[in-house]
Amino acid sequence: MNNLNHIAIIMDGNGRWAKERNLPRTMGHKKGVEKVREIAIYANKLGVKCLTLYAFSTENWKRPETEVNYLMSLPKVFFKSYLKEIMENNIVIRMVGDMERIPSEAREIFESAIEQTKNNTGMVLNFAMNYGGQNEIVKAALKFANDYKEGKKDSLDEESFKDYLYTAGLPDVDLMIRTSNEQRISNFLLYQLAYSEFIFTDTYWPDFSCEDLDKCIEEFNHRTRRFGGLNETKNN
Ligand code: IPE
Ligand code: IPE
Ligand code: MG
Repeated sequence: MNNLNHIAIIMDGNGRWAKERNLPRTMGHKKGVEKVREIAIYANKLGVKCLTLYAFSTENWKRPETEVNYLMSLPKVFFKSYLKEIMENNIVIRMVGDMERIPSEAREIFESAIEQTKNNTGMVLNFAMNYGGQNEIVKAALKFANDYKEGKKDSLDEESFKDYLYTAGLPDVDLMIRTSNEQRISNFLLYQLAYSEFIFTDTYWPDFSCEDLDKCIEEFNHRTRRFGGLNETKNN
């Protein structure tokens, strides 16, 4: 586990999980929220330092309004049900994404959870909400341009650019998992995934279990990372 600082998950397949059971798509999202709790508590127990979960992309606004509204109501459901347990487990809540378009009720719930958990010292549970990797990079570039214009910064490199991203201060992603057998990134953490290991699993997110996470970590532990060089970095 010592090389596993940051796991990022594209929680995909809620809709198909529901469809297979003749349920409305929203039921898949509801079940998905319960999985967020289960996997977050477990990852924290394993000693993972940061878990980033893709909850809503900048492209998900294309979905029917009823589904978007349902998804935007989930932060309330999640924190109402589980904030107490999150506190007991010493987990820190963070959020990455473009906050401005998120309805004020969901935004305020997030802000309150971030505030309440800010002095915890366990895993960072980082929600990607209205998140898009391209949007993040463009915003970061604009912020740097502004700092440059105001004379606050006069140089930029790959490392210092990270301070302008939503994920500032978080470690690079070691392992990216996508559920539901889709093999693409869908605009997730484009900058941060530069040298991550990727695992694509068939399981739909509502069926993803702690054992599945164990299996992913086991596979990660057998990978060899070279970061472009010749010295092999074993993950275990
Ligand atoms: C992932 O499940 C949740 C979100 C994108 C919000 P989907 O809703 O994409 O489920 P599928 O891919 O249609 O099965
Ligand atoms: C990615 O899943 C976004 C989230 C899991 C929040 P999508 O279901 O939106 O991705 P595509 O459209 O299949 O690429
Ligand atoms: Mg999907």
